[in-house]
Amino acid sequence: MNDMTTFDVEKIRKDFPILSREIHGMPLAFLDNGASAQKPKAVLDAIEKAYDHTYANVHRGVHYLSQASTELYEGARETIRAHINAASLDEVIFTKNATESINLVADSYGRANLKEGDEILLSTLEHHSNIVPWQLIAEKTGAVVKAVPIDEHGEFMFDTYLEMLGPKTKIVAVTHISNAIGTITPIDEIISAAHDAGAVVLIDGSQAAPHMQIDMQAIGADFYVFTGHKVFGPTGIGILYGKEELLDKMPPYQGGGDMIRRVTFEKTTFAKGHSKFEAGTPPIVQAIGLGAAIDYVNTIGFDKIGPHEQSLLAYATEQLGQINSVRIIGQAKQKASIISFTMEGIHPHDIGTIVDRGGVAIRVGHHCAQPLMDHFDVAATARASFAFYNNRADVDALVTAVRGVQEFFG
Ligand code: ALA
Repeated sequence: MNDMTTFDVEKIRKDFPILSREIHGMPLAFLDNGASAQKPKAVLDAIEKAYDHTYANVHRGVHYLSQASTELYEGARETIRAHINAASLDEVIFTKNATESINLVADSYGRANLKEGDEILLSTLEHHSNIVPWQLIAEKTGAVVKAVPIDEHGEFMFDTYLEMLGPKTKIVAVTHISNAIGTITPIDEIISAAHDAGAVVLIDGSQAAPHMQIDMQAIGADFYVFTGHKVFGPTGIGILYGKEELLDKMPPYQGGGDMIRRVTFEKTTFAKGHSKFEAGTPPIVQAIGLGAAIDYVNTIGFDKIGPHEQSLLAYATEQLGQINSVRIIGQAKQKASIISFTMEGIHPHDIGTIVDRGGVAIRVGHHCAQPLMDHFDVAATARASFAFYNNRADVDALVTAVRGVQEFFG
């Protein structure tokens, strides 16, 4: 594993076994990190060890392995708490993914607090996972979902947001970084204005957590969610951060084992803290793997990751911009290392299929953000999304492959 004082991308790449693969006889250029990121050896080892050395169920046994497994599982919670600077362990809830985290808040907080005519403000940038759960709870409660528009560059329209905020606004749920076009939203200002209006705020940090240091106490959101598999951990594990005073008042999302204090057929009382929201056997090994991923990323540091990714973004934007038929979708001033583009007269699925022959993995489609596609009047885009282990050779492979697409279609 790396213990880095300087950023050495070639050394980092050696920590990710899959990056040395060839695809269709070409070196892999993995540029689909927005969909899911690759895993370092440290995470693969932690998962294997958790299964072949300490595996047992957690919170349920007095025997040695159950205690050892519980220690690792709860240790991972502390790793994540420290990493995101949450004030307490009870503010860190393990879920299945970011989608489940948002559904939990929408259903539990929403059910307890929304009534007819209340407003939930989202933005045009949102992933479907930060739209549909709110529509479902709006249907049940009579609340209304509204979306703050974005401009032609893909920037969140802050002045319009201020006009839309009002006494009816009960919840503001906005992405930190757009998965489809990379826009970084002004969450500090968004949160502060929402709080002035008396609304609670959920930030979808799924695309932010892999690219920047996130500090819950500095950010001040009431809820912040992200998923493990995009921060170099396993699938099947997500994080819900919530302020303790809000979580304490929220009803459980799911019922089952481990979330109760006392069960009788007449009445059940619930556990306190994070346990209330973790019904059933939790994603034990996934949490341990996520802890290892966070430890790994911190050996590199976001202070080094940020500039490297920004330099890849600038290089890729400049290189793709030189190809005549390419139109870059989303040119916000503050962007993470995500580039969406279309090519005149060529379907994004054809782009994806042809660049794949050159070993270049990108995502094509609507990126689970159809309202955003509608805004730009496109059905789909091709999207290259970079992680810290990508290098300029990956950008060169993408650009060569995209030039190949242009040539193929004449
Ligand atoms: N939300 C993931 C993406 O943006 C799957 O591709």
